[in-house]
Amino acid sequence: MPTDNGKSGDMPGLLLFGAGGHARVVADAVLRAPLARAIFASDRNDAVCTGELLPGIPMVPVAKALLLGRFHLHVAIGDNASRERECRAFGSERMQSIHHPAAVVSPWAHIGAGSFIAANAIVAPGARLGRGVIVNHGAIVDHDVEIGDFAHIAPAAVLGGGSRIGRAVLVGSGAVVQPRLVVTADVIIGSGSVVCRQIDMPGTWVGVPARRIL
Ligand SMILES: CC(C)(COP(=O)(O)OP(=O)(O)OC[C@H]1O[C@@H](n2cnc3c(N)ncnc32)[C@H](O)[C@@H]1OP(=O)(O)O)[C@@H](O)C(=O)NCCC(=O)NCCS
Repeated sequence: MPTDNGKSGDMPGLLLFGAGGHARVVADAVLRAPLARAIFASDRNDAVCTGELLPGIPMVPVAKALLLGRFHLHVAIGDNASRERECRAFGSERMQSIHHPAAVVSPWAHIGAGSFIAANAIVAPGARLGRGVIVNHGAIVDHDVEIGDFAHIAPAAVLGGGSRIGRAVLVGSGAVVQPRLVVTADVIIGSGSVVCRQIDMPGTWVGVPARRIL
């Protein structure tokens, strides 16, 4: 299996790091594939570390979370730069990949540490995802696609077979990257846009065909 939602290994707990909407989406996925171990959540902002992220997942201040012992960690932050910063701060050795039980992930895909695959997303054989990648609800990552570290493929986006998406790219919701095209690092592709040619310059690209605006 490319990911196991943390069932393997001998670490007793899973820490979800983040308190926003994306963290609740990840928590929902984890709760639907129950684990026989403690799940808790935390955030840099102590003010939000009260109550529960979702029922059964207590929020604890980060200083306390770090004292709770050995745990797998998943940084559940949608923003690419913030997710990368937190993954680097914690170190990658205990990063846990998570996929929703309703995601379809090929056993012949490679999923990097700390990645998240949401409900109804498809990751086809030969796809290679880096570390800390998000493939959000209903997105399609076709065969042999490569995705760099800390990229985010937003809901219902489609990456054509053999396309290569650079590090920290955001492919907006419903956007399409046509097969075999290359998108360089640090690009934002607007929602609903269609990438019809290689993108070799960082910036914000929108429209059909996608053109650079920022
Ligand atoms: C592309 C995007 C980042 C631009 O945001 P922004 O920098 O705040 O830019 P603005 O909203 O000021 O728009 C700038 C121009 O681009 C146009 N534009 C913005 N998004 C566009 C899109 N997706 N398609 C076509 N045109 C778009 C605006 O109409 C505006 O045009 P104008 O200058 O002629 O008025 C944003 O619109 C977007 O699509 N974000 C992706 C959201 C997403 O899918 N997130 C994932 C959540 S899980």
